[in-house]
Order: sequence, then structure tokens, then C-alpha cells
Amino acid sequence: MYFLFLASLVSADIPSDYPAVPIRGVKGQVRMPLIGIGTWQYTDDIAAASVSQAFSIGYRHVDTSLDYKNQVGIGKALQDTKLARSDYFITTKVMGNLNFSATTEALYTCLDELQTDYIDLMLLHWPASTADLRKQQWMALEAFASAGRSRAIGISHYCRTHVQEVLTYSTLPIAITQEQYHVGMGQDTQTRLHDKQFMEAHGIRYESYSTLCGPCPFPDNTTLLTGQLVSDIGKKYNKTGAQVSLRWVVQQNIPVIPKSSSMEHLRENFELFDFSLSTEDMKALNLTTSPAETGTPEAPDDAQDCSFESY
Ligand SMILES: NC(=O)c1ccc[n+]([C@@H]2O[C@H](COP(=O)([O-])OP(=O)(O)OC[C@H]3O[C@@H](n4cnc5c(N)ncnc54)[C@H](OP(=O)(O)O)[C@@H]3O)[C@@H](O)[C@H]2O)c1
Ligand SMILES: *[C@@H]1O[C@H](CO)[C@@H](O)[C@H](O)[C@H]1NC(C)=O
Ligand SMILES: *[C@@H]1O[C@H](CO)[C@@H](O)[C@H](O)[C@H]1NC(C)=O
Ligand SMILES: *[C@@H]1O[C@H](CO)[C@@H](O)[C@H](O)[C@H]1NC(C)=O
Ligand SMILES: *[C@@H]1O[C@H](CO)[C@@H](O)[C@H](O)[C@H]1NC(C)=O
Repeated sequence: MYFLFLASLVSADIPSDYPAVPIRGVKGQVRMPLIGIGTWQYTDDIAAASVSQAFSIGYRHVDTSLDYKNQVGIGKALQDTKLARSDYFITTKVMGNLNFSATTEALYTCLDELQTDYIDLMLLHWPASTADLRKQQWMALEAFASAGRSRAIGISHYCRTHVQEVLTYSTLPIAITQEQYHVGMGQDTQTRLHDKQFMEAHGIRYESYSTLCGPCPFPDNTTLLTGQLVSDIGKKYNKTGAQVSLRWVVQQNIPVIPKSSSMEHLRENFELFDFSLSTEDMKALNLTTSPAETGTPEAPDDAQDCSFESY
């Protein structure tokens, strides 16, 4: 009884007033923060500075990946906050195309680099190119979680058939799928969005990356910040276009992890929970088809329709 109580303390959720939604963890429900910071393309130093700035504002969630090569900086910055480990949430990811033992090694490297005993949400960053490797990776992730090293596990860039495959051998829930999702993608006309309904029907919560279309080619990288639609709607609420774009996603109970190197933007992005978009404004944002889903310079055809090129 005593030990059970201690164990539950160790895996305690983030503060109860932090905006969050439930996800299916390894040992029951886990509260997933609706807002966190992204760190893609940041060096150790920039990612560390971003964590300290964001956490001083009140953020308690950071999203990284072994592939981002900035976990060491983030680990140091998290230590420097002096917060209890249970007061914040870490999401990280391991690369695709590793076998069981290499996946296991990568998972434990994340713990070392981040200087922590456990990860809150560990994801497979992209699908391996063969079904056999995809299974090895999922089973390694489950073993890691069963050893108490991750409170929840999930995927990123997996399409419907990949998920169907995992569901045939998984023994633990797929908590999250992290996907590109932003204003402009609200129309259910693309394969990826049919996948969204499919994933949600299986209890897998969608998490949005590139919510501001940050890496999208010009002018798409400005549409969700200063574009007419989001700016006009923002004026009604005394909010910026970026806040409207982020609010449209969190109002669907989809967590966001916007990246920013600016204190002012970090502050703005954290202020999403003191207003609510009207049904009419939600509808207008649902209907726009701009900016469309886009890839990145590294993976231009980043569509989640099983044609995704594993790299
Ligand atoms: N699973 C995956 O494969 C995957 C793929 C992509 C991203 N992600 C994750 O998702 C995170 C977020 O996505 P992202 O980095 O692609 O792009 P993003 O968050 O959509 O956009 C970031 C860009 O928006 C600007 N920005 C942020 N807040 C702003 C504001 N309030 N006003 C004006 N400009 C603002 C930032 O510039 P400033 O620095 O000037 O503010 C930055 O250039 C990533 O960092 C990463 O953690 C995961
Ligand atoms: C797994 O991958 C690693 C790294 O590529 C390799 O060294 C090892 O031999 C592989 N193990 C098996 C069982 O294939
Ligand atoms: C949008 O992309 C262009 C071209 O890469 C870049 O010059 C510009 O700074 C970007 N704008 C924003 C707001 O990120
Ligand atoms: C509008 O928002 C800004 C920034 O949050 C704030 O400083 C200002 O007081 C707000 N104005 C009104 C009229 O609420
Ligand atoms: C907007 O789209 C979301 C996601 O499909 C849906 O949950 C919501 O009901 C829609 N809202 C309106 C007002 O159309």
C-alpha cells in the first residue's frame, strides 16, 4: 500500500490547473498538456534557452527528438529549473528504421541525454520501411514502457495501414499520433484527414506539429500569423493571428507545440485559454483550405498516405 502510494507520486501528473487532455497511458489515463514548446532545428544552446524562457512563463511541456540532437541542452535546462520531475512533461522520439536492439539503445540514450529516469510520452518518429522493422520498433517501445521508462507511447507519420498493423500485435495503447495539422487542413478531403478520423476512432489522440506552418514555403509560412482570415478574427478577441491559429487547434482538444526563439511569441502562444472562438469563427477556420498541408525541404512529399518516404 505504502509502496503503491510512492509509485503513484513518482508518476504524478503535471499541475492540475495546467490545460490538458486525457490520453491512454501505459498504466491508465495520463494528462497530456495542450500547450508545450517545439525545438526542431534548435541547437543545444538555443533549445536550452527556449526551455528556460518558456518555463519561466509557465510552460511545462517540451517536445524534442533524439534526431534533433539537442536533448543534452534541454536536459541541462530542465535540471536548472529546479522543478520536481513530476511538474513537467517531456515528449521525445526515436528514429525509424532501427532494429529491436538499436531501438532499445536509442530509447535509453534519450533518458541519459535528458538526465531523467522516465519520459512522459515517447514516440516512434517515423515508420520504418519494412513491416518487420516496424514491429521490432513497436515491441522495443513497449518493453521500454513496461520497464517504467515511459508513461505513454505513440507514433508520428504513421498512416492508416501502419496503424492497422501495429494494432494486430500491440499489447499497450497507442496514445498519440503526432502529425502536421493546422488551419487550412480542416476539410476532410485528403487521405491524411481520413486517417485522422480512423486514428481517433481507435482512441489515438492527434497531436499537431507545425501548427503555425512555420517550415512551410513562403507565403504559407505567413498565412497563419498575419493572413487576412486569422488577423480579422483575432481583432474581435484582441488576439493575434498566431493565437487564433493555435486556438483553432486546441479548441478541438488537440495538443500544440509551437516553436519560438522569441520571448514575446512564447508569451503569446501560451495565452490561448482565456478566450474561446465562436462557432461561426471555428466554422470559417474549418472551411479554409489555405495553407495546404506541405512537406519540408528534407521530405517534400510529407503526406501521411503511406507514400511517406522513410528516411
Ligand atoms: N513529428 C515530426 O516529425 C515533427 C515535424 C515538425 C515539427 N515537429 C515538432 O513540432 C514543433 C513545432 O513545429 P515547427 O517548428 O515545424 O513550426 P511552427 O511551430 O509551426 O512554427 C515555428 C515558427 O513560427 C514562428 N512563431 C512562433 N510563434 C509565433 C508568434 N506568436 N508570432 C509570429 N511568429 C511565431 C517562429 O519564429 P520565431 O522564433 O521568430 O518566433 C518559428 O519560425 C517542432 O519544433 C517540433 O518540436 C515534429
Ligand atoms: C541491429 O542494428 C545494429 C545497428 O545497425 C547492428 O549492429 C546489429 O547487428 C543489428 N542486430 C540484429 C540482431 O540484426
Ligand atoms: C518565410 O519563408 C521565407 C522564405 O524561406 C523567409 O525568408 C521568411 O523569413 C519566412 N517568414 C517567416 C515569418 O517565417
Ligand atoms: C489586448 O491585449 C493586449 C496584449 O495581451 C493587452 O495588453 C491589452 O490590455 C488588451 N486590450 C484590451 C482592450 O483588452
Ligand atoms: C470544425 O472542425 C472540427 C474538426 O473536424 C469539428 O470537431 C468541429 O465540430 C468543427 N466546428 C464547426 C463549428 O464546424
